Amino acid sequence: MNSATEDTLTIPEHVPRELVCEFDIWDEISAAGVCAHQRAARFHDELPPIFYVPKLGYLPGAWVPQKTEDLRRILRDTQTFSSQSTMPFAAMLGEHWKLIPLELDPPEHTKYRALINGLLSPNKVTAIEAAIRQHAGDLIDTFAANKRCNFNQEFADKFPTLIFLRLMGWPETEAPRFVKWTHTLVKSQDMEEVVGAVAQIRNYLMQKIQDSRANPVDDFTGYLLNSEVDGQLLTDDELLGYCFLVFIGGLDTVASSLGFHFMHLALHPEHQADLRANPDKIPIAVEELLRAYSIVNMRRIVTCDVEIRGVQMKAGDIVLISTELGNTDPEVFDDPCEVNFDRGDGNAPHMAFSFGAHRCVGSHLARRELRIALELWLQKVPVFRLAEDCNPVMRAAGVFGMDELIFEWD
Ligand code: HEM
Repeated sequence: MNSATEDTLTIPEHVPRELVCEFDIWDEISAAGVCAHQRAARFHDELPPIFYVPKLGYLPGAWVPQKTEDLRRILRDTQTFSSQSTMPFAAMLGEHWKLIPLELDPPEHTKYRALINGLLSPNKVTAIEAAIRQHAGDLIDTFAANKRCNFNQEFADKFPTLIFLRLMGWPETEAPRFVKWTHTLVKSQDMEEVVGAVAQIRNYLMQKIQDSRANPVDDFTGYLLNSEVDGQLLTDDELLGYCFLVFIGGLDTVASSLGFHFMHLALHPEHQADLRANPDKIPIAVEELLRAYSIVNMRRIVTCDVEIRGVQMKAGDIVLISTELGNTDPEVFDDPCEVNFDRGDGNAPHMAFSFGAHRCVGSHLARRELRIALELWLQKVPVFRLAEDCNPVMRAAGVFGMDELIFEWD
């Protein structure tokens, strides 16, 4: 996470000038506010299928492929497009642990991924469904009678945090601390503050790992402590890599998705009415909202010179995998900017949870949280809208988010 220095703005010699995008696409998307995803979708008309951005927020330059077909090819080819060293957290502390399994490539990735598939399987999610319902319902009950809520503060930030703590077997009273850390990681522009939060999270997780070693219990960490890869128990750094990843992968992503999905419904009362009248449509509506409001932007490092769609990429180049661009490719999705709960089978499955080896292992949990949140809101809260004094702020970064959402109802 180095700041945008002169160096990072240097355009490599092999990048043809006609493929260079002159503006910072994330600034442009942020400036579009509640229409951010529609703005991103227009890049398909305005920019080449693969273009180059000299900088992305504080990150260095990268290739940006827009076509679903190219993105899938890249995600499938883990040898040429590596996930190693794509995340900044350990480096911020001068350490060398990896987010596991995210920063591993197959065949290593496959062995480590197998260990957590079972921990986040549909059956495991069903086992905690009652708790998910309880947390969502209790939170909504705290503000339903107020006819107004600060959505992120009162619901979206707390809900996935409580589920995460439940999943890890840690006390709910830790929630405020986790919400604060997530905020700092996602929103702070102050690098010192971000590094401080990363250090605190690391120390907290390491302490939990030590506690589990001393007093083994049957929870997430306890399971990993007894797990082996190639006949070896996991090291502390590996355990930290798993826990840190579930923390950053499972909290902000769900909170941000909730923000976009509920903002959409606040701006489209006809869609609220449709789902209130047909609650059985909620699962399919969640899929369409995940597609239309995709939030995750991953990176891959090119390991050897390669050509895609006539574009030469060189070893060491960075490629941005933007799920919001992949999910608005007009060659794959008809009227991609339209949110259509009746979108037929003619459209391909979306890639909001990525594709290939690293496809989101938490997708079963995320879907269940998003469905239950929607279901209970529509039961407990009447038709809601954006409050008149609400000025939502769009945040385009590795994970897109919408801040300052205030809803009100009669
Ligand atoms: C709406 C919510 C979510 C979205 C949109 C989302 C999206 C994604 C995406 C796009 C990836 C692929 C990253 C890459 O290829 O580099 C990913 C991976 C991952 N996600 Fe999620 N995620 C969500 C929720 C969750 C939750 C709730 C958890 C866990 C509790 C989770 C845990 C993970 C993990 C561990 C990986 C790494 C998988 C691997 O490398 O094999 N995610 N997620």
